[in-house]
Amino acid sequence: MGSTAYNYSGETVIVTGGSSGIGREIALRFAEAGATVLNADVREDPKNTNETEPTHELIEAAGGTATYVETDVTEPAQIASLIGEAREYGGVDVMINNAGLYIGKSLREVSPEEFDRIHAVNVRGVFFGCQAAANDMIERDHSGVILNTASISSTHAQFDQVQYDSTKGAIRMVTRGAALELAEHGIRVNGVAPGQIATEFLEGWTETAQREAQEEKFLKPVPLRRAGRPADVAGAYLYLASDDASYVTGELLHVDGGWQIC
Ligand code: NAI
Repeated sequence: MGSTAYNYSGETVIVTGGSSGIGREIALRFAEAGATVLNADVREDPKNTNETEPTHELIEAAGGTATYVETDVTEPAQIASLIGEAREYGGVDVMINNAGLYIGKSLREVSPEEFDRIHAVNVRGVFFGCQAAANDMIERDHSGVILNTASISSTHAQFDQVQYDSTKGAIRMVTRGAALELAEHGIRVNGVAPGQIATEFLEGWTETAQREAQEEKFLKPVPLRRAGRPADVAGAYLYLASDDASYVTGELLHVDGGWQIC
């Protein structure tokens, strides 16, 4: 099967949580397509110990343009300064709010601090990422694109993760609401909903995710009978940011091996 070659030359793309996993792959793919990439993460090094080089160094070694901007997405002031830094590269064209945190516990065990923390990263981070990018794009009279990493958990409840599912459900509605409000400015806002993707999101999970996707551990095993890889997901972002998706906004694109169909 063929794949699409996108051209993002001259475009500036911000990826939050671009040091590891899905965000790292998104950053690499946009850079490969010619974009200047700003990786905004709390840590510079990848979480997966098999990957040693920071994302921006890998991109630069391949001849691309990228930088690391230490950013905690729970702090709106840091997101605003990140957007300011993007102006040095011509201003943000594509804002990807991808950084996320997982806490797996039953409803009865989650502490108020854990609840606040996961909502701060996953919801506050995405909300103020949308706000900062939108304000900057409108000020520059620029019809950019905002993409948010949601989840299968945006629409499907799973055991021991109501605190996570509630953040991803909120991201779905932040995406739809922002799409509605920003449409008059020509700014499109969409979400990507990955299923089970083998990353270090859960510690040590890269090793076990492929196996678990095929087992009865989950209520519904993944129909394609394997966990996804970051490379399975990244293309959805390149598509949604592109002119091929010029009439797509407020959408949640599932990339989940068929998880949500039955
Ligand atoms: P990951 O843990 O490999 O990458 C997440 C990145 O976010 C890390 O580099 C981490 O340092 C960064 N980050 C965490 N808190 C941050 C903060 N406060 N400010 C800035 N950066 C921060 O995880 P993965 O799997 O790549 O997850 C990326 C996104 O995909 C998350 O939003 C997650 O909820 C979502 N997702 C992941 C799935 C999976 O199966 N791995 C499934 C569905 C959604």
